[in-house]
Amino acid sequence: MTALLEVEGLRVRLPTPRGFATVVDGIDYHVEPAQVFGVAGESGSGKTMSMLALLGLLPPGAVVEGRAAFGGKDLLRLRGRELRAVSGRDIGMVFQDPMTSLHPMLTIGQQLTEHMRRHLGLGRRAAGDRAVELLDQVRIPGPRSALHAYPHQFSGGMRQRIAIAIALACGPRLLIADEPTTALDVTVQAGILRLLDRLRREHDLSVVLITHDLAVMSSIADRISIFYAGRVVESGRRDELLRRPRHPYTRALLDALPHPEAARDTPLVAIKGAPPSPQQIPPGCRYHPRCPYAIEVCTMDDPPLVPTDGRRLACHVDPFADGE
Ligand SMILES: Nc1ncnc2c1ncn2[C@@H]1O[C@H](COP(=O)(O)OP(=O)(O)O)[C@@H](O)[C@H]1O
Ligand SMILES: [Mg+2]
Repeated sequence: MTALLEVEGLRVRLPTPRGFATVVDGIDYHVEPAQVFGVAGESGSGKTMSMLALLGLLPPGAVVEGRAAFGGKDLLRLRGRELRAVSGRDIGMVFQDPMTSLHPMLTIGQQLTEHMRRHLGLGRRAAGDRAVELLDQVRIPGPRSALHAYPHQFSGGMRQRIAIAIALACGPRLLIADEPTTALDVTVQAGILRLLDRLRREHDLSVVLITHDLAVMSSIADRISIFYAGRVVESGRRDELLRRPRHPYTRALLDALPHPEAARDTPLVAIKGAPPSPQQIPPGCRYHPRCPYAIEVCTMDDPPLVPTDGRRLACHVDPFADGE
């Protein structure tokens, strides 16, 4: 299968008062058609910056290296008009806080149709009809009257559905959803995940789903990459990765999740320590200061990400190689 998006050697450096900080440090991944690709890792691991880089939305002064092949073009080389055409039309983006993508002073209808008239050149009537269809697709009750309402009239979950409708307005092939359910409670969260899953099946849409919560992935991602301090430490098919995690960090993320079958008062095992800041990346394996399995080589040599047993893994020790 040919990948829809193929990212190679992505590196992002951001200017700071103390010089450049490398926040994404050589990341490779690909997204296949109609698949959900999950990106997980603690806060600060470079998930958001690695996606903003694709859409030319990084803070001013950022330096980007690498390649991001999408529909025969390298997204990292596009500028101006050409970039806006791709990023608004072929790639849709949904953020954690729907109010980031929604304008508080404009009606839902205005926001949906403005986008389509600009990118697709639709007339007022055609855009209006399509807006109703989109709201219906994301299961907004009473889509026709919703067109005349403002964002504040909807609940958080409904606002996120509307933000998804706007991201879908121009018929993108790829939807990037950055922590789309983080601000929502668990039931509403499940509804949004089912919606993304349905859109992928019914519209052949590929989804990049970013989250710091592996539980969110477990229901819908086909493949997952685990980010740590700007690098991928493990990647592979969801079932492999979640059932038989091999990297101590993947394992720790999973151990930190509440188990549905466990008693409610079972304490969670939080990961000790914090990820390094981009200005203070430790030598060797970036995870070694927090890793209970680290040996001497981990403090000196940076482990490469290599294919092993149906996945890619960056660990010198590989303590779970035999399944336990
Ligand atoms: N404007 C900025 N300038 C410099 N560093 C930044 C800026 N925004 C974020 N960072 C740093 O970049 C790193 C990656 O951030 P981000 O991609 O947002 O992480 P994630 O989405 O995984 O939580 C973090 O260490 C963060 O502190
Ligand atoms: Mg983020």
